[in-house]
Amino acid sequence: MQISKRIFRTKPISEPLDDGKHQGLKRVLNGRDLIAMGLGAIIGTGIFVLSGVAAARYAGPGVILSFVLSGITAALAALVYAELTAMFPAAGSAYTYTYTALGEIIAWLIGWNLVLEYTVASAAVALGWSGYMLDLLKPLGVKLPVLLTASPFNGGAINLLPLLIIAVITYAVTAGTKESNQVNKIVVIMKLAAIGLFLALGCSRFNIANWHPFLPFGVTGIFRGASIIFFAYIGFDAVATAAEEVRNPKRDLPVGIIGALSISTILYLAVAVVLTGMVRYNLLDTSSPVTTALILRGLPWAAALVSVGAMAGLTSVLLVSFFAQSRILFAMSRDGLLPPIFSRLHPRWQTPVFSVLAVSIVSALLSSLLPIYLIAELANIGTLSAFAMVSIGVVVLRHVQPDLPRPFRVPLVPYLPLLSFAASVYLMINLPVLTWYRFLAWLVLGLVIYFTYSINHSRAAHTTFFTVGMRTTPQPAFKRQPNPPRKN
Ligand code: ALA
Repeated sequence: MQISKRIFRTKPISEPLDDGKHQGLKRVLNGRDLIAMGLGAIIGTGIFVLSGVAAARYAGPGVILSFVLSGITAALAALVYAELTAMFPAAGSAYTYTYTALGEIIAWLIGWNLVLEYTVASAAVALGWSGYMLDLLKPLGVKLPVLLTASPFNGGAINLLPLLIIAVITYAVTAGTKESNQVNKIVVIMKLAAIGLFLALGCSRFNIANWHPFLPFGVTGIFRGASIIFFAYIGFDAVATAAEEVRNPKRDLPVGIIGALSISTILYLAVAVVLTGMVRYNLLDTSSPVTTALILRGLPWAAALVSVGAMAGLTSVLLVSFFAQSRILFAMSRDGLLPPIFSRLHPRWQTPVFSVLAVSIVSALLSSLLPIYLIAELANIGTLSAFAMVSIGVVVLRHVQPDLPRPFRVPLVPYLPLLSFAASVYLMINLPVLTWYRFLAWLVLGLVIYFTYSINHSRAAHTTFFTVGMRTTPQPAFKRQPNPPRKN
């Protein structure tokens, strides 16, 4: 087969989620679980750590507008996601949709960029967690050596604290969906309580003088701030990766994604307003700006309480990111694009144990060696590129499969998805050139793996039911072929 046909082959839309032969995940999640999962995945390092970094370095109090801008970008992408998740409730999120809409190589690139999103974001969140942990230990008189609590970029040798939390999360996610879902609900309640406490106390310490100047770095600072603050919204798509574990995916997935994103956006704006009104923006460049503001305004006891809630919040982000990433690797492996070991389920826990371990090892390495802003920017560029491609995917699918049932429809197609595409690309453009180089290096590595492994091992290479090109005709139900011979 011609190379161009091989790389653009698509997966049939009629493929059922579970053909009864390959490994299936357990359906244990409902709508409320999904909103909790979304909140668990969304509210974390972005608000508890990067809000301060972005205010102090890029946007000043104008970081509030950065939150608005990146929130709009995330909301547009969420609408697009909601249409696709309701149509194709299958594990693997954006990766799975693009396999159907745009072809194998685009799906591979999206899956590869989602690896960048979740694994790298997990590393940044584990680092945020270690910052708050150090803050909590200080008043207790526990002083850990800098050599073992800072990356080589920050005057240390290795940061060991993130490894602690990564080990705990690895166990929780491996032990099973239902169990980690229960833990997630408890920590979500804790972090919402912490944010509530911060807002209630912060309002009483609000001083409008702190908003002058409002844009110390000019208007461009808002955009630069938005490109890093976007990290705060990453995670709503994690809800989609759980599709195969949801009882009623067509109804519950859009509710989960849009509900969780709306609640987080409201909370973010409130926190940004209060935080920048409590203290001057230039005092917020710390690893725990929310508690820094409380301490500076004479509320150390509240700072300790909020630290506990923030750590709980960061823990839940990690929990969901690990969950989502392992499911994407699972889906890619099930399609043959990654080695079969990534989709092998643990005999008792029924979770893709090797995928979880892979995420754990990589994020542990990154978080112990690199600084947080660098990791967050890399996660953002990976996520934004995936969102941009998914936005195009929804337009293409409306064109090539207009009659497919769509339980949730994005309004104003093609304008809204195209706006989503433009907004994502615009935020990418605002990221530093070095982040772009790292991103391009990641893409090249992905293409090397695709052309040396995936293209030959793809299940699509072994079945006549995969279609070639974008225009698909009604397909017979997908059936797995019994061990077909390889045709290279
Ligand atoms: N949105 C997540 C966070 O802010 C990744 O930690």
